[in-house]
Amino acid sequence: PDLFAPERVNSAGFDLTDEPTLRRIDAARAPYLETPFRAGPIIAGKVTGGPEQPVLNPASGQEVGRVTEAAAEDVDQALDAAQIWQAPVDERAAILNRAADLYEQNFGPIFALLAREAGKTLPDAVAELREAVDFLRYYAAQAQKHPGEPLGKFVCISPWNFPLAIFTGQIAAALAAGNSVLAKPAEQTPLIAALAVDLLHRAGVPATALQLLPGDGARVGAQLTSDARVGGVCFTGSTETAQIIRRAMAQHLAPGAPLIAETGGLNAMIVDSTALPEQAVRDIVISAFQSAGQRCSALRCLYVQDDIADRFVEMLYGAMEELSLGDPWQLSTDIGPVIDAEAEATIRAHVERARKEGRLLRQLSAPKAGHFVAPCVIRVNGISDLKREIFGPVLHLATYDADDLPRVIEAINATGYGLTFGLHTRIDSRVQEVTEALHVGNMYVNRNQIGAVVGSQPFGGEGLSGTGPKAGGPHYLPRFQRPAEPKIAA
Ligand code: NAD
Ligand code: ALA
Repeated sequence: PDLFAPERVNSAGFDLTDEPTLRRIDAARAPYLETPFRAGPIIAGKVTGGPEQPVLNPASGQEVGRVTEAAAEDVDQALDAAQIWQAPVDERAAILNRAADLYEQNFGPIFALLAREAGKTLPDAVAELREAVDFLRYYAAQAQKHPGEPLGKFVCISPWNFPLAIFTGQIAAALAAGNSVLAKPAEQTPLIAALAVDLLHRAGVPATALQLLPGDGARVGAQLTSDARVGGVCFTGSTETAQIIRRAMAQHLAPGAPLIAETGGLNAMIVDSTALPEQAVRDIVISAFQSAGQRCSALRCLYVQDDIADRFVEMLYGAMEELSLGDPWQLSTDIGPVIDAEAEATIRAHVERARKEGRLLRQLSAPKAGHFVAPCVIRVNGISDLKREIFGPVLHLATYDADDLPRVIEAINATGYGLTFGLHTRIDSRVQEVTEALHVGNMYVNRNQIGAVVGSQPFGGEGLSGTGPKAGGPHYLPRFQRPAEPKIAA
């Protein structure tokens, strides 16, 4: 079926170059600067009490709120209580559209929590709210075109780096298809998840169709993905966790229960000697360092053609110097903190190793307090030097000779990942050649390689980067529905 939904328009978002708009945003989020937020299991509409743990602001270390993690009995009760959403598809779509409106109206607390709990700068928070709203409206419109049949109880497990957009996108697709959802947010970001669930319930999603189970992945997530009552799992996070979930599902769930997994990447960009240097530098800075490099799509390994490399890299260092690191609440901040102490330690250890080996080419300075890592550039021979995804503002730099391009492409494919790729060139035939040879989900030419837009740039990877289908694209929703019986010709 034709699942494109042209009648739907993406969220307008906010124009951050407009002074009155900035003042409006500031006024709306200011009341939530100190508010203590709370999250706990929401089972059949009731919030469960229990021991609380603090949720900390990664930039300041201050408490943002408290969370009660789901106990094993909570998970069990939620699985029993879960009921498919039986309302007709038009009613479901109307409720998801109402939720999108509520998200847009509640930008004050949403932007406040995205900054305080997830360390998001305002431009990142604006983009994240837009994406969440777009997912709600996109899957609602698609479901109306392709009502299908639900699979039953769907587990949605999300990461902290898009605590609103990915959390909402998974849920929106599962609900649009009529499933009931058991949502397990990342340990680091339960508060924004609780706010989102509240808005979805206020829009009219029934309490038994959407339940929240915050808690540890290895405990709550593992229990959910090993329960035979579950009809399907949607997961976004690391490749390693996806592999654990795949094994658990194979042992405990009915054969055919789908796993929709979007996972990590080792993403490269190639800049050849015909590229426009100013544009390429700007796009590299965005791709590698925006969101403190905490995007699965972020650029990890840059290949620059050797005959332009010296001048080009000096320009890159100059552009990096312009970046301002600090409190994500401040409008002047370009780069916020990384998510927590563990992330900071892992990234710092990687950078320190490179420093000791004489491969750290350049590093900015970072604020002393808070989980900040200064953007840096590390020299490598090629992408095969990277054994795993470093999830932070660390750019690895290699040079290549024009004759070596086929070997560079081979090395990128050989990582086994296939999420995003960027190419800067003015040679049309090169675009064609590289596009055909590379196995990646999203390829970007002469622009940055982050920030895919729902409906126009479906997002997802190949190989170790995910199972597909791409989120925000026409093939995603049907994976949350019972596959149509094959028609057998007599
Ligand atoms: P993670 O794999 O550590 O955690 C993701 C989620 O899985 C969390 O909710 C966690 O609690 C849960 N989990 C952990 N162990 C589990 C288990 N045994 N069973 C069930 N659930 C379990 O990932 P993260 O650190 O939160 O997120 C960063 C990763 O996500 C990066 O690798 C990044 O590339 C990836 N990511 C991918 C995409 C994409 O669209 N491809 C988007 C965003 C993030
Ligand atoms: N969809 C996100 C991006 O494209 C991960 O950056």
